[in-house]
Amino acid sequence: MKRVFSGIQPSGTLTIGNYLGAMKNFVRLQNEAECYFCIVDLHAITVPQDPAVLRTNTMSLAAMYVASGIDPKKSTLFAQSHVRQHTELGWLLQCIAYYGELGRMTQFKDKSAQRDVVTAGLFTYPALMAADILLYQADLVPVGEDQKQHLELTRDIAERFNNRFGQTFVVPEPYISKVGGRIMSLEEPTKKMSKSDESAGAYISMLDEPDVVRKKISRAVTDSEREVRYDDANKPAISNLLTIYALCADRTVEDVVAQYAGQGYGPFKKDLAEVVVAALEPIQARYRELMSSGELAALLRDAAERAAEVAEVTVQDVKEKLGFVV
Ligand code: AMP
Ligand code: TRP
Repeated sequence: MKRVFSGIQPSGTLTIGNYLGAMKNFVRLQNEAECYFCIVDLHAITVPQDPAVLRTNTMSLAAMYVASGIDPKKSTLFAQSHVRQHTELGWLLQCIAYYGELGRMTQFKDKSAQRDVVTAGLFTYPALMAADILLYQADLVPVGEDQKQHLELTRDIAERFNNRFGQTFVVPEPYISKVGGRIMSLEEPTKKMSKSDESAGAYISMLDEPDVVRKKISRAVTDSEREVRYDDANKPAISNLLTIYALCADRTVEDVVAQYAGQGYGPFKKDLAEVVVAALEPIQARYRELMSSGELAALLRDAAERAAEVAEVTVQDVKEKLGFVV
């Protein structure tokens, strides 16, 4: 059976970009693979976090994973900081990764350009991400398009280690959806949808109320001409809305395009809003139940124990290969 690993940062409420680009694949994969899904709180602190907010966001993300369909009986759903091996292998891999390759990461360049002070952790972030994945000998890593470069670096680090010290790590493959791997902003369709956008109109949060969803979609930018047609290069806005529609309704883009042939943007956007509301409603209801149930903390603790057993085997092997007295 294949192993799958992925992680999401507890840095605010997920957007439908996270859901359609990453989480929906997680849910699908848990029926065919041994899955590890992580709340990467150690990655979150690479930029300043308010401690109380971080704690709330961590529990909220745990609830969102489960509400979106991650079954804690099928998947190991845990918090990164509960499994010490992440920090340990993270350091070891910082000593395998090169300064030059970390400096070429576009996520680092973008995030560091937006801040006055940049932590060393923001720079070494990809070595910790490599550790997350390699600890579990994952074959597949479902992520959005924006994580592709980090995955390539993880593969380079794994291969470098294997070449130097002998076969140790499985070299993981990225798993990125062709449709939905990069959901775009509703206001600037050439920019990815992000929960950290200053303008809330740019994204749909997984917890947005139905009327908020309707308003955001009705205000979403469209392209010139009035035809509902998929054309990424010339009609990025409508193509993005078509992608969101198709994924939320579990239909193909072609099928949706055919339905709105000759109808213009108005009816399309109106229906899109209802399709998104209908997709979010059951998730939001389950989320509220889970947040008030108090069952999440125990669930995370149990999962961390299982994860640590697997992770420890890798750490011991790596330490021995590196020449530590064991
Ligand atoms: P993050 O919120 O940055 O921790 O991202 C969690 C997961 O969602 C990662 O796999 C990202 O690649 C994915 N993701 C984030 N934003 C988008 C987006 N706009 N479209 C598709 N996937 C996304
Ligand atoms: N860097 C990822 C993001 O920002 C989150 C992440 C951390 C991750 N560790 C991971 C994703 C391991 C996949 C696998 O979205």
